[in-house]
Amino acid sequence: MRWPDAGPGTVLSLRSTDGARLLVRREWPVLPVDAVVELAAARVPTDARRLSMLAHPRVATHSLQAATLARRACGWARRSTRGRVSTIVRGERDRPVFRSRASIPVDLNLTHGGGVVAVAFDPRGPIGVDVEPSRTPTAALLANTVRPEELPWLDGAFDATDRAFRYARLWTLKEALMKCTGLGLALDPRDLAFRICGRRAELVRSPLRGAWSFETFVVDGRVPCTVCRGRPGQAS
Ligand SMILES: CC(C)(COP(=O)(O)OP(=O)(O)OC[C@H]1O[C@@H](n2cnc3c(N)ncnc32)[C@H](O)[C@@H]1OP(=O)(O)O)[C@@H](O)C(=O)NCCC(=O)NCCS
Repeated sequence: MRWPDAGPGTVLSLRSTDGARLLVRREWPVLPVDAVVELAAARVPTDARRLSMLAHPRVATHSLQAATLARRACGWARRSTRGRVSTIVRGERDRPVFRSRASIPVDLNLTHGGGVVAVAFDPRGPIGVDVEPSRTPTAALLANTVRPEELPWLDGAFDATDRAFRYARLWTLKEALMKCTGLGLALDPRDLAFRICGRRAELVRSPLRGAWSFETFVVDGRVPCTVCRGRPGQAS
């Protein structure tokens, strides 16, 4: 089985700020599940069992691709901790985390969707990353995910395309925070409210203690990708 192209043309974004890194790649073409299993056994054996249980070829392919990016993050972590971190395991609620004997703050997070796969890495504390393709939210989706105080910003969109993009951006802010904490969807998106002004986004309501910062990039000219960096327990 040939390894899918991982050449430089597939890198959509590579950013580095203050030790934290974000690598975004164009997603691989979907592979049959048996090919995913074969490639996983050869390249990411620690993920092979988990990947063999993913029945959907698209999910399995992009989860495999994410696992290869996680290995890159392992290299970054090894360098920033002078070898104290070497592997990634699944922690609480299935969150990928670095395994180490001592308590060290390095963290990674992965996302796949909307044609891209990304890994984010922070040597200093928890990090979450999320991508989301633009979509027009139904009334039910809005009711389940958006707070009333966020609606004026959504409704201030220029047109339907801009509104769909704004919804996707708002969702990536919420999901990047859910992933940074590791709580995932156990955190109700209606308990979170963001104030967005131009490129800046501020968390103005949440049940969490801690200080959180957010940065959103537009990947491939169309897909919002948000990185959340956290310092849990600190006053915001
Ligand atoms: C985290 C979550 C919001 C991600 O949803 P999604 O729409 O699939 O989003 P993304 O593509 O952005 O992210 C998927 C990646 O997030 C990572 N991830 C999984 N669980 C995570 C968690 N609790 N926190 C942070 N990241 C998580 C994984 O790397 C996953 O991809 P992979 O399994 O292919 O490696 C959702 O899966 C969730 O709520 N998970 C928690 C489930 C849970 O509580 N399980 C308990 C029983 S084990």
